[in-house]
Amino acid sequence: MLTLHDIADLRAQLNAQRRDGKHIALVPTMGNLHAGHLALVDAARRDADVVVTTIFVNPLQFGANEDFASYPRTFEADTRALSEHGCDIVFAPDADTLYPQGRDHQTHVNVPLVSEGLCGASRPGHFSGVATVVSMLFNLVQPDAAYFGRKDYQQFMVIRKLVADLHFPIEIVGVPTRRAEDGLALSSRNGYLSATERQQAPALYRTLCHVHDTLRAGEAPPTALRDGLAALTKQGFKPDYLELRRARDLGPIAPDTQEAILLVAAHLGTTRLIDNLPVSLP
Ligand code: PAJ
Repeated sequence: MLTLHDIADLRAQLNAQRRDGKHIALVPTMGNLHAGHLALVDAARRDADVVVTTIFVNPLQFGANEDFASYPRTFEADTRALSEHGCDIVFAPDADTLYPQGRDHQTHVNVPLVSEGLCGASRPGHFSGVATVVSMLFNLVQPDAAYFGRKDYQQFMVIRKLVADLHFPIEIVGVPTRRAEDGLALSSRNGYLSATERQQAPALYRTLCHVHDTLRAGEAPPTALRDGLAALTKQGFKPDYLELRRARDLGPIAPDTQEAILLVAAHLGTTRLIDNLPVSLP
C-alpha cells in the first residue's frame, strides 16, 4: 500500500494505472476509521482494480463552534486497517496542499436544495464544504466509482446531485449503515460519549425503528413523528430534527410517496448523533 501526501505523486501513480485500463475506486474519509468506513473499502475492493482511500479532516466543512481541532486523528491505526483491507493507495494531504491559498480559497460548490434543512439547517456551510472538497478529490483522483455511507444520507444525496449536475463520469455507490450490536450506527463521534451516554445512545435507533413500525402500520406521519420526538426527549436526547422525506431526493413526502426516509439528529450531552432508516410507506 502506498501512502501519498502530494498531488503530483498521486497524479503520477493514477495516470499510470489509468493508462493500463485499471478501474479506480475512491473512498473519501476523514480518518479515525471504524468498521463503517472499512465496509466502504471492502465494497470498493470487490468492485475495482485500484482502491484509493483519502484521509483528510476538511476544515471547510466544520463550523466555527464545531470539533475541527479536536476531531480524532489516528493516522497510524488508520493506515494499518486500510492495508489489512486491501487498500492500494492512501492519499492524506495537508490542508495547505488542498487549500494553498488558505483563507483566500474562493471556489465553492453549492448544492442548495438538497443541502437545505435537516443537518444543513443547524450546520450552515457544512454541505458546501463537503461538496467542495469531494469535487476536488474527484478531480484529483478521477475515479470510475466513489463510495459513500448511507449513514450520512443527506451528504450522500448532495454528492449524487453534484455528480449529476456537473456531469462527473463517476458512479456513486451508497453503502448501508454499519451498526454496533446494540444498533447504534458506528461513527467517529461515538468516541465522545461517556460510558453512561454510550448505554443510552442505542435508543436513537430503537426510536427510529419504532417510528418506522408505526408508519408501516398506517399511522399518520405527523403523529408518528411527534410521538418519536417526545420519546427521544424522554430518553434523554435533545432532538435537533426527526423528519420523514422522499428517499430519492429528500423532497417533501406527498400522498403518493412510497419510498421514504426517516432522518434524525439529536444531541446526547455534548455529542450530536445522526441516523436514518428507509421506510416503504403503506
Ligand atoms: P467521515 O465521517 O470520515 O465518513 C467517511 C465515509 O464513511 C462517509 O461516506 C460516511 O457516510 C461513511 N460512514 C461513516 N460511518 C458509517 C457507518 N456506520 N456505516 C457506513 N458508512 C459510514 O463523511 C465524511 O467523512 C466527510 O464528510 C467526507 C465525505 C470525507 C468529506 O470530507
